[in-house]
Amino acid sequence: MRTDAADEVIAPFQHLFNRCGTLFLQSVCERSALGDGVPLVVDIATIVLNALWIMLPAYIPNPVAALVGGGMPVDLGRRCRDGRRVLGDGKTFRGLAAGIGAGILTGLLQLHLQNSIPPGFLYPHTLLSVMLMATGALLGDLVKSFFKRRIGKERGEAWPIADQYDLVAGAFVLNLVLNTGWFLTTMTTGTFIAILLLTPVLHRAVNIIGYLTGVKDVPW
Ligand code: CTP
Ligand code: MG
Repeated sequence: MRTDAADEVIAPFQHLFNRCGTLFLQSVCERSALGDGVPLVVDIATIVLNALWIMLPAYIPNPVAALVGGGMPVDLGRRCRDGRRVLGDGKTFRGLAAGIGAGILTGLLQLHLQNSIPPGFLYPHTLLSVMLMATGALLGDLVKSFFKRRIGKERGEAWPIADQYDLVAGAFVLNLVLNTGWFLTTMTTGTFIAILLLTPVLHRAVNIIGYLTGVKDVPW
């Protein structure tokens, strides 16, 4: 008797849960860019992989500059009218050249590798995209340091958001202006969001490693 009553109460909910479960699975499969039946997790992994692939020539220059940088500063020690350095001792010719060089070399390796990856899986780089990604990353870093000095922040002082996204801004602006077609077809909304989410996480992780290994003075 009690069981029957309980069943009567639960039954409509059970139906509702079943329906929700089915709808969720359906939406997961429908939302997949890879087509019906491919789970969302594969879709997300593909987007993340693409974001890394696109950004790799831009991610490499900063850690390489930190590793081998030093010597003559890009601003040659000059100061602005505010009495502060134009860029500071953290921006050197050696860091710039080695960082951009390493980013381009990484990209050249990707150009070589992408020939053996099934077409349509990864967004292909071009020689121009590789060069602009690597150069843009460190130009963004230089521009950031210029404004960082103007607002009175010392070399190495943290400037949240700008410190993390300077390379993305530089790489995107150069590609948008000088490589518009490639940039607009490559930069889907999903990839763009993945880059925005991944960059600060990778930036922090690499800087903590740099700090622990003595390459960087600060863990940011
Ligand atoms: N570096 C370099 N040349 C560059 C960029 C970086 O030599 N163009 C080296 C410097 O030794 C620098 C280190 O990499 O100290 C870390 O880079 P970054 O964090 O960008 O510089 P900061 O020292 O923090 O300077 P800023 O406050 O201007 O960002
Ligand atoms: Mg810094």
